[in-house]
Amino acid sequence: MRSVLSTVLALSAFSAASAKQIVVTVGGNTTTNTSAVFQPAQITNATIGDTIFFNFTKGNHTATQSTFASPCIPAHDTNVTINGFDSGFRDTVNGTAITNLVVPITDNGTIWFYDANTCAAGGVGGINVNDSSTETLDGFRRNAIRLNGTKSSSSASGSGGSGTRTATSSRTSSTSATSGNTSGNGAERSVVVGLGAAVPMIIAAMLL
Ligand SMILES: *[C@@H]1O[C@H](CO)[C@@H](O)[C@H](O)[C@H]1NC(C)=O
Ligand SMILES: *[C@@H]1O[C@H](CO)[C@@H](O)[C@H](O)[C@H]1NC(C)=O
Ligand SMILES: *[C@@H]1O[C@H](CO)[C@@H](O)[C@H](O)[C@H]1NC(C)=O
Ligand SMILES: *[C@@H]1O[C@H](CO)[C@@H](O)[C@H](O)[C@H]1NC(C)=O
Ligand SMILES: *[C@@H]1O[C@H](CO)[C@@H](O)[C@H](O)[C@H]1NC(C)=O
Ligand SMILES: *[C@@H]1O[C@H](CO)[C@@H](O)[C@H](O)[C@H]1NC(C)=O
Ligand SMILES: *[C@@H]1O[C@H](CO)[C@@H](O)[C@H](O)[C@H]1NC(C)=O
Ligand SMILES: *[C@@H]1O[C@H](CO)[C@@H](O)[C@H](O)[C@H]1NC(C)=O
Ligand SMILES: *[C@@H]1O[C@H](CO)[C@@H](O)[C@H](O)[C@H]1NC(C)=O
Ligand SMILES: *[C@@H]1O[C@H](CO)[C@@H](O)[C@H](O)[C@H]1NC(C)=O
Ligand SMILES: *[C@@H]1O[C@H](CO)[C@@H](O)[C@H](O)[C@H]1NC(C)=O
Repeated sequence: MRSVLSTVLALSAFSAASAKQIVVTVGGNTTTNTSAVFQPAQITNATIGDTIFFNFTKGNHTATQSTFASPCIPAHDTNVTINGFDSGFRDTVNGTAITNLVVPITDNGTIWFYDANTCAAGGVGGINVNDSSTETLDGFRRNAIRLNGTKSSSSASGSGGSGTRTATSSRTSSTSATSGNTSGNGAERSVVVGLGAAVPMIIAAMLL
């Protein structure tokens, strides 16, 4: 903790007057709404030289950088050229151990991130989401839920994603007849169905 704090102090002393500190509270009200884990979930005006403070205030969460196509996997695991940030699990011990992760902004690109404990339910966010791009925060959240949520399993990786695809609905209709009640049973089901389920999903991914 001490080292994080001194890093913070060093950064703020070093920064030009125009540099901003942007706070993202991690742990919002996740009891009723997991997609509220990052508040705000979208940061629009970070500029080079600013710092993002992920302020872990409740629960046990991570702030982990990922990519648009693979929302719930650390960025480095899907693209080795990205040296993404990852806080690891930060347990706040019921709010008595609040910690920060400090992320300096070094370029103008979009930075996607997630919480490993709620990603599958939409616990994701984005920094400098490009307004003219089809890669929106809503699309990123849908990818997270689709790939890691209730019905995904072994073959989820590999399907990329631009937020607004229509094939999603056809896949959904073929696999979600039991929607709602098999949540958490994805692994069990994939063992039962095995390749039978994986092959159509791989084909679906290739068609996208
Ligand atoms: C979470 O949100 C629900 C619904 O808005 C509210 O009833 C509940 O009190 C909130 N919990 C906390 C800890 O803020
Ligand atoms: C959950 O939180 C998100 C982000 O704050 C908000 O947009 C959404 O309306 C909330 N959903 C519910 C059901 O409260
Ligand atoms: C950045 O955006 C946030 C919310 O969108 C706003 O509250 C804040 O004032 C903005 N800061 C600057 C320096 O524009
Ligand atoms: C983090 O959140 C705590 C609790 O809400 C607050 O006291 C603290 O000032 C916040 N830290 C920053 C850097 O905003
Ligand atoms: C935080 O969550 C992770 C994943 O669910 C878990 O492995 C870890 O034990 C949790 N940490 C604490 C202190 O509960
Ligand atoms: C990996 O990331 C780099 C730098 O961000 C990017 O230029 C490249 O296109 C990415 N590669 C893939 C396969 O997405
Ligand atoms: C956190 O709060 C829960 C519920 O009030 C309690 O059961 C648990 O013992 C608390 N944990 C710590 C480390 O204080
Ligand atoms: C980042 O964006 C700012 C404002 O649009 C621009 O002035 C700057 O040249 C950009 N920097 C890079 C490295 O693209
Ligand atoms: C999301 O699913 C992928 C593929 O199954 C897995 O590698 C990854 O660990 C999952 N992410 C989380 C946060 O559970
Ligand atoms: C935003 O997206 C548009 C359309 O894809 C692209 O032309 C532009 O270069 C992007 N801007 C940044 C800063 O990446
Ligand atoms: C959902 O599954 C649970 C446990 O497997 C079972 O007790 C419950 O009756 C099921 N609900 C429905 C609507 O099928």
